[in-house]
Formats: sequence, structure tokens, C-alpha cells
Amino acid sequence: MPDVQAVILAGGKGTRLRPVTAELPKPLIPIANRPLIDHQLRHLAASGIRDITLALGYNADRFGGVEDTAHDLDLDLRIIVEPRPLGTGGALRWCADQGAFDERPLLWMNGDVVATPDVAALLDIHTERQSVLTLWLTSVRDVSEFGVLELEADGHVEHFLEKPAPEETDSHLVNAGILLLEPSVLQRIPPDTFFSFEQGLLPAMVKQAEALYGLFDGGYWLDTGRPRDYLAANRHVLEGRVDWSPAGTKTQDGLWEGEGVQRETVGVIQPAVLGDEVVIEKGAQVFGRVALGRGTVVRAGAQLEDCVLFDDVEIGADTEVFGSVVCSGARIGANVTLEGSIVGARASVGPRNELRHTRLARDVEVATGTLIVDR
Ligand code: GTP
Repeated sequence: MPDVQAVILAGGKGTRLRPVTAELPKPLIPIANRPLIDHQLRHLAASGIRDITLALGYNADRFGGVEDTAHDLDLDLRIIVEPRPLGTGGALRWCADQGAFDERPLLWMNGDVVATPDVAALLDIHTERQSVLTLWLTSVRDVSEFGVLELEADGHVEHFLEKPAPEETDSHLVNAGILLLEPSVLQRIPPDTFFSFEQGLLPAMVKQAEALYGLFDGGYWLDTGRPRDYLAANRHVLEGRVDWSPAGTKTQDGLWEGEGVQRETVGVIQPAVLGDEVVIEKGAQVFGRVALGRGTVVRAGAQLEDCVLFDDVEIGADTEVFGSVVCSGARIGANVTLEGSIVGARASVGPRNELRHTRLARDVEVATGTLIVDR
């Protein structure tokens, strides 16, 4: 068991995922019907980590349920709420100043990443190389939105480039938001100040040729920051590409069900996860890669594929939902087509609407027969 403490940064606003994040912080969004952060805690617990700090800010009061999960997993969870947004570095320093950390290496995980890093392997490198900071890296095709690292043969970080143009580097290795660091590094962050670790300290440490190392082991990684990636993360967990378990009981290969599910339909094509009290009326079709939250109702003749419906959603008769996210309490009327869209919490879409590639804010009402296409 690695002797490591961990911190999960979960205080961001998640603006790119609006309206999903309008009231639900990104670390709490469901992935295969389980809050993202629950999956992370389960992975950290399975990796042998016991001491975990949760650094919260935006909508901190929503995180109550996390304490139950931590208790079930026998974790020692400390929740620290910032007085105002402090950025990644500022949040880490704030936690340190509240006495959250001891001397042991600190695993920092962003609360919005889907990944199962090998903590023991990371710690091995960290210890062997006497590293001050060891990054678990991932590889992406388009590096222009990431912090890119160029490594020497032994994994030492030679260069760091923030959001480079394609011609600036051949490297595809990027900071995945999972780092192991010596807590003493946090003393170099100004206290009680908004500070981005990635922009404010990391480049300087690399420039000074400090003992920074990177590990790339080809493990699964996805950042749920954008809607397309959020849907992909759900899909990949259901397909078993990530070692995270969907909520509920596995009733068939690729099918997980909660309690009290009613599904009179001929069958559900896997993979799918159906929450407690889900109702799928006769003649509705679930074509796979679908997550239905607690109490969601799918009326007769409706068709669903590659979508996430949160709790207490209603999908009207003969409505089609593809590649979309529908937040809690939203009502979609009959004969609607919903494609590539996000519907905010409690929004109401009248019958015979067509919504393609659009985002509807929470509590919005769309009258009958409106075509909304937003490319
Ligand atoms: P966007 O607004 O869509 O960019 O999302 P975000 O606010 O989550 O920002 P970003 O994706 O850059 O954040 C990376 C991780 O750091 C996420 O897990 C955030 O929750 C977390 N984070 C970002 N800013 C803060 C902060 O000020 N305080 C804390 N505690 N966490 C933060």
C-alpha cells in the first residue's frame, strides 16, 4: 500500500459544461449513474489511499453525499472550503495552510478527470528519482488546449509548453491533472491569493531544471470538461473501457439496474444503466450507451441512444433522444427529436419540437412545434 495522502480539487465552476454545471458541480455529475467523485474515491481507496482532502469552493454545499461514500469506503475525508475561488495553486496552498497535509507525498487529482492512475507506479518513480513533482501524463492528438511536456529518456521533464501551436512541439504528452508532489512545494505558492499552479509555478520549476518527472503508461484518461467528452466518458465506463463500476446490480452483461425498475419493453440493448424506479413503457426502445437516472420515465414508442438522462426526467411518447444530456427534472414532450443537445434542469420542451446541437438553460420552457438548430 503506497504511503501517500491525496487531495481532490473540486471547486471549479465548470463553465464549459453549462447548463449541466449550473447547479451541479462537475465532480458531482453522474458517470454511469454514480457521481464522478465517487468513482475517484473508490479508485483511490482501491489504491490503498486513506487520507483524502476535498478542496471545495463553487456550490460546496452540494457535496454532502460524498461524506457517506467516504464513510462506506473507510476513508478519512477532510473537506476544506475556500472563502473565494483561489485557482488550482491557491486552493492547494489554502488546504496546506488549514493543516490538511503532513509530510508524505501528496497525490493531487482534479475532480473532473476520468482515469485510474497506477498510484504505486507513480510513487516508485517519485521515490527512486527523488522527484519533487511527478506527473501522470496522458497523450492527446490536439495539444493546443493543454500543458505539454517534453521528457528526457529517464522521464525527467525537459520542457513545458502551455497551449502550444502544433509547430512548436512534437510531443503529445500532456498534464492530465494527476500529479504526485512533495507538500513543501506548496510553500512556494502565495497564500490567500488566486494562483494557477499550472501557469504560475509549473513552468518556472521546469525552467529551473528541478527534479520533475513524468510517467506515461497509456492508461485511460478523459477530462469531462466538454459535453462531447462527458458523453464519451459515460459510454466508455458502460463499455468497460475504464475500471469504474456503474451504479446498481449487474443483471446481464453490460446492463446494470437499480431497485424497482419497470421495463415492459422487449429489451434493452446494452450497455445501459437504469437507476432506481426507472420506468420504460412498452414499445419504447433503448438502443445502448444509455444511462437513466433515478425515477426517470420513458414513454411508449420513445427511442434512446448514446445519452445520459439524470434523475426524474420524463421522455414523451415517440420522442427520440440521441447523443444528448437531459438534466434532473426536465420534461420532454411527445414526438420530439433531441440530438446532440443539453437540456438544463427542470426545463420543459413541448411536443413536436426538434432540438439539434443546442443547449437549453435550466427552467426554460419551449413551446410546441419550435425548431431549434444551433450549429
Ligand atoms: P471550466 O470553467 O469549464 O474551465 O471548468 P473548471 O472550473 O472545473 O476549471 P478546470 O477544468 O480548469 O479545473 C480543473 C480542476 O480544478 C477541476 O476539478 C476544478 O473543480 C478544480 N478547480 C478549478 N478552479 C478551482 C478553484 O478555484 N478552487 C478549487 N478548490 N478547485 C478548483
